[in-house]
Formats: sequence, structure tokens, C-alpha cells
Amino acid sequence: MTDKKARLTSLQTLFETRRGTAVSLPPRLARRYGNLRIPSKHGPPHVFSNFVTTLDGVVSLSSPKHASGGDISGFSAQDRMVMGLLRAVADVVIIGAGTLGADSRHVWTADAIFPELADEYRRLRKYLEKAETPLNVVVSGSGAVDLRLPIFASGKVNALILTTTAGERRLRREAASDSVEIRAIGTNRRAISPRAILDEVCRLRSNRLILVEGGPRLLGDFYAERLIDEQFLTIAPQVAGRDDGDRRPSLVMGNAFAPGDARWGTLTDVRRGGSHLFLRYSFPGSRGRSQAGSR
Ligand SMILES: NC(=O)c1ccc[n+]([C@@H]2O[C@H](COP(=O)([O-])OP(=O)(O)OC[C@H]3O[C@@H](n4cnc5c(N)ncnc54)[C@H](OP(=O)(O)O)[C@@H]3O)[C@@H](O)[C@H]2O)c1
Repeated sequence: MTDKKARLTSLQTLFETRRGTAVSLPPRLARRYGNLRIPSKHGPPHVFSNFVTTLDGVVSLSSPKHASGGDISGFSAQDRMVMGLLRAVADVVIIGAGTLGADSRHVWTADAIFPELADEYRRLRKYLEKAETPLNVVVSGSGAVDLRLPIFASGKVNALILTTTAGERRLRREAASDSVEIRAIGTNRRAISPRAILDEVCRLRSNRLILVEGGPRLLGDFYAERLIDEQFLTIAPQVAGRDDGDRRPSLVMGNAFAPGDARWGTLTDVRRGGSHLFLRYSFPGSRGRSQAGSR
């Protein structure tokens, strides 16, 4: 059952983090979310991720018309509100080419995911002294992305494509609008190191709050390099199932950690929205802070 048209009701805070600096949220947002704490703006860069998963760990149904996060959350208004909130505090949103392909008409801003609270998100960014919209970063080894998509051509966001030298060559053959920048940071290997992605993003401007919205391949690479400081995870109350041999992904793909090298998190915040759970974990061993912060 989806609640595409459901009214936005308030989250119930079950357990709340005490870490970080309290953000003064606009009243409507504060009523819906509760208290929000984020790392101090004077601290090192902070890399956080936000995903929604089913009870059985599926993050994409991987079917042509049903590959979006909305199909996982049941188009939950509360989940979209939280996505908007996290985008509203972020300086940068990073996605992989697969995530862009699954939602190609989207731009990664707060109001695009939850327009009902667009004014509140705008006020929040102003209060936090952030640019109007977060920088949208797309990671693609191949450079096979369409520069005519809204993220690159609408002028609604500044976009940065991080790619390989081969990918850059391919992209330079197409006309790009002024709002998109293309940079080669990988060599000719398809996989770009998330460390290099963060270094590039932190070099360009004083980006402190870096939101990785995935997908699972990109996120897997960030976890592999221990670059995720925090994971926001919505658990949607559906069991999606998997056919034998089907490739419905889970949170991390392309990297295996357990049993030898599992990433263990600490649960820091729990909220409930009906039967959806909104969890927040910290990964204290992350190497994101010290190295990205040293720039
Ligand atoms: N449930 C959720 O919260 C959630 C969140 C995000 C995404 N999703 C879903 O996940 C699915 C997409 O999964 P995905 O694993 O394909 O997503 P993805 O990680 O966004 O995309 C994979 C592609 O991104 C590029 N890429 C990723 N990491 C790279 C790296 N380190 N270096 C160079 N290129 C890199 C590559 O593009 P090239 O092939 O161009 O080189 C790769 O093929 C979609 O259905 C999407 O809706 C769900």
C-alpha cells in the first residue's frame, strides 16, 4: 500500500541524538521532524548518506517503471520530507550515474523532492547561510550521461560531473550548459576513488556537509574507503522479495565487508512515522573527517 496522497503527519521521536549543533528549524518543519542536530559548521567535512530500504533489504525494485526510491518507501510523505530536510542542510549532494538514470527528470534539491515545504527549506538554507541549492555532483566512470537532462540543463542547480579522462573526452563532444562543470579525476580506470571525489568536492568550495544519496554501487565504494560518517536509513514496512537470481540491490553493492571487515555503526537517533522507521547511525571509524578535513 502506498501513501502517495497521504497528508504529512509529524514524526514521533523515540530516541534522539545529542551530538552536534541544534538547528533552528522553521516552525512547520520543526513540528514535522522534531529536533535536528548537525555537525558544527566550523568542523571538518561531514559525509552522510540517506537511503530507504524494505524490511528485506531491497533498495530498488530494478524494474523499468518501478526503480525509484518512492517505490521502496511507498511514496511516503514523511520520507520525502526527511529527504528534503537533509538536502536542505547539505552543501553538496552526490549521486552515481545509475541513480540519475533511474530518476532522470529529477534535480537533487529539497523542494524537488518535497515541494510542499519548499518555503521552509528555503528559509532553512538562508538561516544556515548556504547557497540557494546544493551542488549536484554526478559520478560516472564512462561519462555516458545525457547533458540535456534537467540536472545539467535546467539551470535550477549547479552540477558537477566527476568522471575519468575517457569519460571527459566523451562528454566534451556534447554541448554543455554554463551550469554544468565536467572534471576528469579518475585515470582511465572505470572506478573513481571516493577519496578523490571528496577531495575534488572540498577543493572547489568550502563544502562541509556532503550528502551521498547513492546508489548502492557508489555508496559501496564510499563504505569501502570508510568515508561515510553517518547513515540515515528509512525502513519501509514492505517485504519486496527477490526471485532466484534477480538482482534487486541492497544498500551496498559491489563490495563485501563481513565477516572479516564489517562496517559496524552506532544507532544515534530513532523516529517513527506510522509504520516507517527513521534511523540514524554514526560510523565513528570513518576516515572522511580527518583526511577530507585536512584540505
Ligand atoms: N532506496 C534508496 O534510497 C535509493 C537511493 C539511491 C538509489 N537507489 C536506486 O538504486 C538504483 C541504482 O543503483 P546503482 O548501484 O546502479 O546506482 P549508482 O551507484 O548510482 O550508479 C552506478 C553507476 O554510477 C557510476 N559510479 C558509481 N560509483 C562509481 C565510482 N566509484 N567510479 C566511477 N563511476 C561510478 C557508474 O557509472 P558509469 O556506468 O557511467 O561509469 C556506475 O555504473 C536505482 O534504481 C535507484 O533508484 C535507491
